[in-house]
Amino acid sequence: MGRSGREAVLRRLPELRKRLSLDFVVVNVDNAAHGFGITPDMARQFFEAGADVLTGGNHLFDQREIIGFLETERRLLRPANMSSSVPGKGMVEITAANGRKAVVIHLIGQLNMPMAGDSPFRLTDCLLSEYKLGENVSAVIVDFHAEMTSEKNALGRYSDGRVSAVIGTHTHIPTADERILERGTAFQTDVGMCGDYDSIIGMHKSAVERFAKGYKCGRLFPASGAAILCGALVDVDDKTGLASSIVRIKIDEASNDSTV
Ligand SMILES: [Fe+2]
Repeated sequence: MGRSGREAVLRRLPELRKRLSLDFVVVNVDNAAHGFGITPDMARQFFEAGADVLTGGNHLFDQREIIGFLETERRLLRPANMSSSVPGKGMVEITAANGRKAVVIHLIGQLNMPMAGDSPFRLTDCLLSEYKLGENVSAVIVDFHAEMTSEKNALGRYSDGRVSAVIGTHTHIPTADERILERGTAFQTDVGMCGDYDSIIGMHKSAVERFAKGYKCGRLFPASGAAILCGALVDVDDKTGLASSIVRIKIDEASNDSTV
């Protein structure tokens, strides 16, 4: 979220990759450029810092120059269930650092989210028809960018046993419900934000006025204080592709407190 979150991720990711022996890293970049989408240069910086795949969301197209980039850079995903005429792709197959095949699927919710062109549930079936976890793919990670906790929980259950993890994004507030579902899929309703939490979901506290007054008074801009990095660390069984653990990551840049 904005410069605060972006720079914290770029600073911390190389060290985290090494220390936690990460085979594969997905970063959601929906709000990286001053809160609105991402530029090609920023995307390159995330790849250089150790991200394997970048996912977007409802703000992905806010920076005009990203449109051409999406057509050539397969590691930057837009939601798969947007209209098929939208540039870019919503799924990618990547060889992880351990040599195994991983797939990332990016979906967007239909509730309170006008950009979905098709059902994320239908797209899940459609995209997974090519992949059998533990047979022709070692891990399938789903980033579900959605507003409603109910819709996110439903997609987690719907995908259970067919993917390694369903991780929610978009609300910027981490939920404390990380767990392994009945059939072995790791799930967290929302992974939270990397950014300044002394804010209104990453935007400067002046955003309070918009709610209090009931009309837009000026543009929103990101809060610029020290970031807290939030994420999820998922361990996947090499044979089955199912999750063996999920741990919530929270690293406070101001105090250096860390859960990992
Ligand atoms: Fe979003």
